[in-house]
Amino acid sequence: MREKVLVTGGAGFIGSHLVRFWLKEDPSVVIVNLDKLAYSGDLSRLEEVKSHPRYEFYKGDVCEPRDVEEAIKGCSTVVHLAAETHVDRSLLNGEVFFQTNTIGTYCLLEAARKAGVQKFLLVSTDEVYGSRKTGFFKEMDRLSPTSPYSVSKTAADLLTLSYAHTYGLHTMVTRGSNTFGPYQYPEKVIPLFTAKALSDEKLPLYGDGRQVRNWIDVEDHCRAILHVLKKGKKGEAYNVSTPFYLTNLELARRILRILGKPVSLIQRVKDRPGHDRRYALSSRKLRALGWRERFRFEESLRRTVRWYRENKAWWKAIKEKSAEFKEYYAKAYAGRV
Ligand code: DAU
Repeated sequence: MREKVLVTGGAGFIGSHLVRFWLKEDPSVVIVNLDKLAYSGDLSRLEEVKSHPRYEFYKGDVCEPRDVEEAIKGCSTVVHLAAETHVDRSLLNGEVFFQTNTIGTYCLLEAARKAGVQKFLLVSTDEVYGSRKTGFFKEMDRLSPTSPYSVSKTAADLLTLSYAHTYGLHTMVTRGSNTFGPYQYPEKVIPLFTAKALSDEKLPLYGDGRQVRNWIDVEDHCRAILHVLKKGKKGEAYNVSTPFYLTNLELARRILRILGKPVSLIQRVKDRPGHDRRYALSSRKLRALGWRERFRFEESLRRTVRWYRENKAWWKAIKEKSAEFKEYYAKAYAGRV
């Protein structure tokens, strides 16, 4: 029996990996991808599946009830990834984050409820917890987001869980750590630093570079989402993280080492306002359901850096031709360097 599922934001970085991975892993699934193709949405990420018999693309906005009602018809499951995701952009203009992330999630939950959807999973973020100096956040810990981005995601996260409590909808949330891999929009640190290094340009390291992030391969993250979808309990949140923690300084050094470039390319620049120092999660609850990451950080980083080296045309088209990228970059780094 075929099962029709709705993936929102399927033309985005994690979304497109999820669409490709899911089609490959599960021959019974038919995927409807609802994506409005905002600045970071890009159908070239889905080139290899665009004519797949179990894939449909629907261009539309999660905030637009008519688009959502159309796309959700006949779907038993929703995986919601459509979002504004870049912290620095939210510091320049937070409004669109609340519109897409918070109101968009509300619209989708309402549509799911009316359409009789059986499972609804929101892909949230580790940033909902905020920063901590030592130890690891568990799912029941207090949420303390610190940027417009993370506040908009926290509202969406709690709203999603409230639909289990109030309406009995089988909702779940995954709170993932920093994800990386091919096709990530080049404003994020790994593709940005790699692209800079490949062009022998300076890598803009914020502040002292001692902030700590937890890193997960995008395929492991997709596997975790599907695992929670299958085994997760109604109304529960699941942290998704790995044992791989790194300071940004160390990350920059490793990218340069892989590419054989000098560390003198690292340039300290003015810090991100309100920059969270350290994200750290316990993923014990997810591991108890049987999930494990398959990739070691170093191996994934090498593979990813190699991909950007071999696919320059993809990111160069964005960096050099996209007016939205250029405008953002000029604003975000003005007065920093
Ligand atoms: O933790 C999960 C989150 O990871 C996701 O929810 C977000 O959508 C995603 O954007 C990411 O947020 P970060 O702010 O951690 O990612 P970003 O790649 O922007 O930055 C990673 C670290 O690198 C952060 O400490 C800031 C630093 N950084 C970033 C840029 C773009 C620099 O030092 N220089 C830079 O130019």
